[in-house]
Amino acid sequence: MSDKHATLTLNNESIDCPVLDGSLGQSVIDIKPVPKTQHFTFDPGFGATAACESGITFIDGQQGILLHRGYPIDQLAFDTDYMEVCYLLMHGDLPNADQKDQFIHMIKKHSNVHDQINRFFCGFRRDAHPMAIMVGVVGALSAFYHDSLDINNPELRELSAIRLVAKMPVLAAMSYKYSIGEPFMHPKHELSYAENFLNMMFGTPYDDTTKPDPVLSRAMDRIFTLHADHEQNASTSTVRVAGSTGANPFACISAGIGALWGPAHGGANEACLRMLQEIGSEDRISEYIAKAKDKNDPFRLMGFGHRVYKNYDPRAKVMQQTCHEVLDTVGCHDDPIFKLAMKLEKIALEDEYFVEKKLYPNVDFYSGITLNALGIPSNMFTVIFAIARTVGWISQWMEMMSDPNRRLARPRQLYTGPTQRDVSNISDR
Ligand code: SDX
Repeated sequence: MSDKHATLTLNNESIDCPVLDGSLGQSVIDIKPVPKTQHFTFDPGFGATAACESGITFIDGQQGILLHRGYPIDQLAFDTDYMEVCYLLMHGDLPNADQKDQFIHMIKKHSNVHDQINRFFCGFRRDAHPMAIMVGVVGALSAFYHDSLDINNPELRELSAIRLVAKMPVLAAMSYKYSIGEPFMHPKHELSYAENFLNMMFGTPYDDTTKPDPVLSRAMDRIFTLHADHEQNASTSTVRVAGSTGANPFACISAGIGALWGPAHGGANEACLRMLQEIGSEDRISEYIAKAKDKNDPFRLMGFGHRVYKNYDPRAKVMQQTCHEVLDTVGCHDDPIFKLAMKLEKIALEDEYFVEKKLYPNVDFYSGITLNALGIPSNMFTVIFAIARTVGWISQWMEMMSDPNRRLARPRQLYTGPTQRDVSNISDR
C-alpha cells in the first residue's frame, strides 16, 4: 500500500481515495469511497478500471510486453511447452521435471469424456458452428462430477481445473468430427497434448499408425501457449463475473467461451482470414484500408488494434515466425494469403491513420493463416483459442476463489430512462 492519495472534490466536498501500487504497471485509485458522494464513477467498456488484483499476467500496452508470472511470452513460447505454461499459470511457477511429469499424468488421466456427453452432440445440426457446440457441451460438464462441486475446497477447485484443461481439446476435436460425420477419436496416452489434438482432429480409427508431423505439433503447442492467458480481457472478465456468484466452474468456462466467440475478441482470427480471402489480391488492399479508416463504415481491419496494446502485440511476432515454419513445412511458403497479409501489414503500419491511432497487428492477425496452413477449418479457429485460453480462465477463477476478500461482481449505471410515472388504464393508453 503506498502513502499516495487522490482527492476528489465535488460541490465543495472532498473525499480521499487511497492510491494502491502493484509490483509492475500503473498504480490504481481505490474509488470505494466515491459512493459517499452520492455519485458513481462512469467507465463503459472498463477501459480505465482495474477490476481485481491479480498476479498471473502482466501486459504493458505501450511497450508491447506480456509476462506470465513474470516470464516473457517469447521465452515461454520458444523455451517451454504448453503443459509447462499451464502449470505455471495454475501454480505460480514453472514445474521441475517431476512436477511436469505428474501434471501431464493428471491431464492424461482426466482426458476421457463421459460416454453420455457423446449424446449431446447428436442434438446439434451437422452445420452448427463448433463454438455453439462448445458452449453447450462444456456447459453440460456442469451436470457431471458431483463429487467435486465444493468450490470452497482448493483441492476440488484444482481438480475441476485439471478436468477442463484435459477435456477441452477432446471436446473440440469431437465438435469438428461431428461436423464432418467422422467417428470421434480418443486421446492416446503416448501422444503429447498438441499431438493428441491434431491426431483427434485429423486421425481416423482405420489408420492407427501415422503420428502428427513434429514441426506442426510444435507449432500447435506454441499456438496454445500464445493464447493461454491475457490479463482481464472480455472473456476472462466474464468468467470472473460468473465465478463471483459462486457458480459451477464448468458453467463459468462455458460463459467465457460465449464471450470469446465475438469478432472483436477471439472471433477475430476467423474474421481476419475471411477478410484476407475477401481482399483477395494486393491491388485491393488500399480499398480495404480506406474502408477501415472511414468512420461511416463499420468495417474494421481484423487482426489489427487492441484495447491494451498500443505497440506491436508480442504474440504476433512469435505467431508470424511460427507461420513461416508451418508454411515451409507444408510446402506453402509462397501461400498467396500469407504474402497478402505481409503486404497488408506493411501498408497499414506505414499509414498515418494506423500510426496515429497506434493500431498494430495483434495475436489474431497471423494465427488464422497459420491455422489454415495446419489444415484447420476457419470455423475451428476460435475453438482452438478457447482450448488454449481455458487454462487462463480457470487459473484466474482459482485466484479469485482463493481470495478471502472476493465480492459478488455488481456494477451500477447512469440511469437515463423515464422518471417515475403512474400506470394508466389500457383504455386510456
Ligand atoms: C483479442 O483484450 C484482450 O486482451 C483480447 C485478446 C486476448 O488475448 O484475450 O488480446 C484477444 O481479442 C485481440 C483483438 C482481436 N480483435 C480484432 O482484431 C478486431 C479488430 N480490432 C478492433 O475491433 C479493435 O481494435 C478492438 C475491438 C480490438 C479494440 O477496440 P477499441 O478499444 O475501441 O480500440 P481503440 O479504442 O484503441 O480504437 C482507437 C481508434 C478508434 O477510432 P476513433 O474512435 O479514435 O476515431 O482506432 C479505431 C477505433 O475505431 N480502430 C480501428 C481498428 N481498431 C481500432 N480502425 C480500423 N480497424 C481497426 N482494427
